[in-house]
Amino acid sequence: MTQLNTAKEQLQILKDQLSLHAQRYYVLDDPLISDGEYDLLFQELLALEKKFPELITIDSPSQRVGGTPLAGFQTIEHRFPMLSLENAFDDHDLHAFEEKIQRFLNSAEPTTYFAEPKLDGLAVELVYEQGLFLAGSTRGDGKTGEDITSNLRTIASIPLKLLAQDNKKIPELLEVRGEVFISHEGFAALNKQREDDGENLFANPRNAAAGSLRQLDPRITAQRPLDFFVYGVSDPSSLPCQNQSELFQYLESLGFKCNALARPCPSINKVLEHQRFLSDLRKDLPYEIDGMVVKVDSFNLQKRLGSKARSPRWAIAYKFPASQATTTLLEVEFRIGRTGAITPVAILEPVDVGGVIVSRATLHNEDEIIRKDLRLGDKVLIQRAGDVIPEIVKPIKENRTGHEQPIIMPRTCPKCGHELLRKEDEAVLRCPNLHCPAQKLRALIHYAGKSGMDIEGFGQKVMAQLFDTGLIADIPDLYHLTKDDLLKLPGWADKSAENGIQAINKSKKTNLARFINALGIRHVGEVTAQLLEEHIQTLDRLMIVSEEDLTEIEGIGSQSAASIAKYFNEDKNKAALAHLVELGLEISLRKPNDKEQPLTDHTFLFTGSLTSFSRSEAKSRVKELGGKVASSISKKVSHVVVGEKPGDKIKKAQELGLAIISEEEFIHLVRF
Ligand code: IVH
Repeated sequence: MTQLNTAKEQLQILKDQLSLHAQRYYVLDDPLISDGEYDLLFQELLALEKKFPELITIDSPSQRVGGTPLAGFQTIEHRFPMLSLENAFDDHDLHAFEEKIQRFLNSAEPTTYFAEPKLDGLAVELVYEQGLFLAGSTRGDGKTGEDITSNLRTIASIPLKLLAQDNKKIPELLEVRGEVFISHEGFAALNKQREDDGENLFANPRNAAAGSLRQLDPRITAQRPLDFFVYGVSDPSSLPCQNQSELFQYLESLGFKCNALARPCPSINKVLEHQRFLSDLRKDLPYEIDGMVVKVDSFNLQKRLGSKARSPRWAIAYKFPASQATTTLLEVEFRIGRTGAITPVAILEPVDVGGVIVSRATLHNEDEIIRKDLRLGDKVLIQRAGDVIPEIVKPIKENRTGHEQPIIMPRTCPKCGHELLRKEDEAVLRCPNLHCPAQKLRALIHYAGKSGMDIEGFGQKVMAQLFDTGLIADIPDLYHLTKDDLLKLPGWADKSAENGIQAINKSKKTNLARFINALGIRHVGEVTAQLLEEHIQTLDRLMIVSEEDLTEIEGIGSQSAASIAKYFNEDKNKAALAHLVELGLEISLRKPNDKEQPLTDHTFLFTGSLTSFSRSEAKSRVKELGGKVASSISKKVSHVVVGEKPGDKIKKAQELGLAIISEEEFIHLVRF
């Protein structure tokens, strides 16, 4: 057998094993092997694919890392419209729903329902052909959605290939529908990262999921903690299922994650019972739900009931009441971030909002305070937006006594006293003092934190302790710490001090992307740091790279470029970096396997003559970036590049609905 064939077989075995284990881990939450063992298998797959790139298939788990940025989203027409649901707000509405159904069916028989948690995320449709995930889209206007295939591919709980059934055959075409969401935990971590990076926070997990799915660069999506629950199909008629309960089991057997809190309910009273159950459970769930969806279980009855213009007659959404409460706004604190941004935080009289005691709420910025016309002492209506970050909806003006006081934004930094600045085009007030102790401490916390150098045991509290006692004032100081230094502080013992120093030393060996991100340069987050590593490669080169060269890098905007150039140009920073190298900092590049090939998964076809370079140069560039080049048109082609005087391939391409791009767009894509 040829080497290629052996590799192909080995790859198939690896892919099957990996998808089985990924399903056990991400979908069933019941892994069979350790994370380490999984990583080993994955590394093996990557090594083999690197050796035989021609064997990379779209269902390979390596393809989840995200491909190349898109210029905009294409659209996808849904074969069957994606409908929405009518709402029920109380038990009475639900009884009315049942009555309508019985009237319509002219039957007094009790109906069996299927009641599912209503996930608060984003509806998407996934299309599988011959068991392979080929396309995915948003709901859009119900008829046409946006093509977000490459972004959906990055979600681990979406199978790239359906699991083969023992004796049942995989449907030739399967269009499943479900909800993409972000868990509370994932949301908190994402916002923490954004706060560290000086970026705007997402208001709730739903917005975070929507923002992540609508990224033009799937590499960004790949870093977001997105998850997926399936809840239906576009057309159940050809599937071996008679009702929604069976459909859930069937979809699970194909490798999808179905919500375990969905229940068949043989009567509307059982539905109401389940509603109470879910409503009580809601605050303890790891993800957001905003109600319960009640569906007539039988597909036969669903078909008979049919749909109205926008919603089916066989389903309804029983919404939970919003988690709101009123309380008093006691005072406003001003928090100083790593980049000097001042965020007003409302201190509230503690109050129970949907089962959680809330005593603080973010006010975002000065404009928000003015827009909402908030005053100290106001009675305020608050809500847990997406039930996570509490926010003030509005003051209750009717309750004002006249003793309420205006909220005055500070003119000087509450920590260092420096005059605060607000740029004309920015909503944020900032402390411009780079030596402001509050900023310095935040920067140090970021450096040692999870998304920074990840120094175990050096979280917020410990860093504040080291900073406040004067042991560390900047990053190099961290590496001067000794075990004795730590032992002098309260809370440290022999073992913990020993481990602490070890953890610090361990962080000396790192990769460039992690290090850059840890430095906490304004407008530089994880993705930009990775781009810098890819393009600049060494710290020495970073110190001399010009702002213009940085703007040339696709994905780095002018703001980031200016900020990066400024940072590495400052003598103080240069000295600190040189000092770190002296102290033993060793920076390598990430393993090549960690880097995604920007054009993997993309097949280009050229027609017409190109003006800026030769056809062979264009082809070799595509291959360099992991893409493929086709000579004839087929559905496998992802981009048709049209030069001057194109042939009639373009007509065929249009018929097939392929992406047709100009030479200019191509240049943009491959960064000539
Ligand atoms: S069924 C025709 N089931 O709620 C029935 N929807 O307006 C289509 N949703 O946008 C929806 N959880 O994104 C269904 N278990 C669930 C759901 C669910 C959340 C969302 C869905 C849709 C909206 C209904």
